[in-house]
Amino acid sequence: MRVGVIGGGLMGSGIAEVCARAGVDVTLVETDDSRVEKSRLGIESGLARATRSGRLTDEGRVAALERLAYTAELEDLDGVDAAIEAIIEDEAAKRDLFIRLDSLLPDARFLASNTSSVPIMKLAAGTSKPERVLGLHFFNPVPVLALVELVRSIMTSSETLETARVFAEQTLGKTCIDSQDRAGFVVNALLIPYLLSAIRMSESGFASREDIDRGMVQGCAHPMGPLALSDLIGLDTLLAVSESLYEEFRDPASVAPALLHRMVEAGLLGRKSGRGFYDYSKPRSTG
Ligand code: NAI
Repeated sequence: MRVGVIGGGLMGSGIAEVCARAGVDVTLVETDDSRVEKSRLGIESGLARATRSGRLTDEGRVAALERLAYTAELEDLDGVDAAIEAIIEDEAAKRDLFIRLDSLLPDARFLASNTSSVPIMKLAAGTSKPERVLGLHFFNPVPVLALVELVRSIMTSSETLETARVFAEQTLGKTCIDSQDRAGFVVNALLIPYLLSAIRMSESGFASREDIDRGMVQGCAHPMGPLALSDLIGLDTLLAVSESLYEEFRDPASVAPALLHRMVEAGLLGRKSGRGFYDYSKPRSTG
């Protein structure tokens, strides 16, 4: 099987790595050569990390590397069996991409989006075969977290849904849950208002960021606190997801606090930019 992964940031790189480790040939598309290189380096260091920690043999690592191809040309996806889109959380950019994928890949069995929040029907609407478009929502870090949300739009066919389920569960070894096609799906509809509340709590001086995070780690046994998790997700992505949720539900709990806007405007995007609620340029400072 050969899969195209479009977008090689945090998520696309993780999806490509997991596919290659599962024996799937992958072509990863980025916007330009420097981003292609960045994705390649990220995936190679992810595979090396998995080998060092004993989760992957060295032969497995070498075999995965051989299954990965990188390009800055979408046309190089010609002939793939399926495509998984993981570009920035921008509805217009994703819609345009689905229109291009639709004409470029007439025989692909499914066109999936890893969107955190954009309703799948909005992406399928411009395609000629909306029945083969669905959401395959992986979780970050993809090589570590087992969950995939399967999102069926009102036009997705049962055949597409089941093909994608078999791919996620049997080929990749993931665990699927099914979600209706509503902004945020199951997990982010619950998670995002919680993260925004934590940012509001920090913004208002109610508690320090370290204490907010420590409270949820020590008091609720969460693996990380909400501000550290926001940094891991990426504050630009968190902002975009909150805007999609608000557009769909008009729930004040999904309104992004001013602090989140200011941090994104300042380029403080979390781990991926080296600084967000915490500073990642130094060895370790999360709560
Ligand atoms: P990111 O900002 O790390 O990566 C996005 C990548 O897409 C960038 O490298 C960018 O160069 C590339 N890109 C943009 N337009 C492109 C195009 N037309 N063709 C090819 N590449 C293009 O973002 P991240 O975090 O990887 O998010 C990607 C998607 O996954 C978003 O839809 C996001 O909502 C979703 N997601 C993010 C999660 C997270 O924790 N960050 C978790 C689950 C889903």
